[in-house]
Amino acid sequence: MNSLEQLKAAGTTVVTDTGEFESIAKYTPQDATTNPSLILAASKKPEYAKLIDIAVAYAKENANDKETQANLALDRLLVEFGKEILKIVPGRVSTEVDARLSFDKEGTIKKALELIELYKSVGISKDRILIKIASTWEGIQAARELESKYGIHCNLTLLFSFGQAVACAEAKVTLISPFVGRIMDWYKASTGKTYTSNDDPGVISVTNIFNYYKKFGYETIVMGASFRNVGEITALAGCDFLTIAPKLLEEMVNSTEPVPQILNSTAAKSSDFEKVSYVDDEAAFRFALNEDAMATEKLSQGIRQFSADCVTLVDELKSRL
Ligand SMILES: *[C@@H]1O[C@H](CO)[C@@H](O)[C@H](O)[C@H]1NC(C)=O
Ligand SMILES: *[C@@H]1O[C@H](CO)[C@@H](O)[C@H](O)[C@H]1NC(C)=O
Ligand SMILES: *[C@@H]1O[C@H](CO)[C@@H](O)[C@H](O)[C@H]1NC(C)=O
Repeated sequence: MNSLEQLKAAGTTVVTDTGEFESIAKYTPQDATTNPSLILAASKKPEYAKLIDIAVAYAKENANDKETQANLALDRLLVEFGKEILKIVPGRVSTEVDARLSFDKEGTIKKALELIELYKSVGISKDRILIKIASTWEGIQAARELESKYGIHCNLTLLFSFGQAVACAEAKVTLISPFVGRIMDWYKASTGKTYTSNDDPGVISVTNIFNYYKKFGYETIVMGASFRNVGEITALAGCDFLTIAPKLLEEMVNSTEPVPQILNSTAAKSSDFEKVSYVDDEAAFRFALNEDAMATEKLSQGIRQFSADCVTLVDELKSRL
């Protein structure tokens, strides 16, 4: 068996980490994702121009001022791209809530409901959507309500710390995508050290989250994301889901290196974690997050990046209105 087949045999569901239509078509992953930067890139291609036309027409029909129109066009465009992706993948598509709402619980809920409603209007049920939300306190509380009150599935992203993972599990969100490579990047830049998969802080972070979830029986799916090399991936063999870029997938297909199962939910039951809780304890959550310099910086940076991408796409849409 090649390394990729062995990874799957170790119990991991593999998802291709790409938003590009060509790659999605080539690797036909179970699930896929959209976000403003991928859409911006794709929308420059002539074959997707019609999706922009649909979004712009929809916005003009439903609002008069340019600002509202641009935001409506953005929502509709996300949904149109999601719809195209769902023609290719059998599973679900993640659609991002505007990152400028990352600290606005009610705004996030409202936006998620609007996106789900828009999907419904084009014939796609909420079962096939994951609403992607940044793992801030407000984002996690919004996800709690979306899951429990509306049955809407959420994918909590920009997750770098154990405390964020604890709060997501307590909110019973469907899936978290903790980052591996971005954590390692931060430590590498701040310590000057080179890490191997044995001491890679990103690998250790996801391992701890996995073991903690399995020990206490949380059902939230752990989906490791953002890998810099194959070593980080094989060190997490056995994780529920891993999302892997096409280049690394190809490397694994080309290799026959053994990939034994490392993460083990049975063994995790006897790991020595104490239970932590942030239910109704925003102050404790914020304090724990603030104590983690890496997670604090990476979360802020990620939100800034997602917001900037969003603004760029909105501006692009404005110029077409
Ligand atoms: C969840 O979001 C992450 C981005 O943080 C993405 O890489 C991943 O594909 C999404 N998961 C699913 C199952 O859509
Ligand atoms: C995988 O193998 C193919 C065929 O030998 C080769 O063309 C390709 O460059 C390899 N890819 C990687 C990422 O090593
Ligand atoms: C998982 O852990 C259990 C309990 O420690 C052990 O019996 C089992 O062999 C392990 N499975 C793998 C694949 O290592």
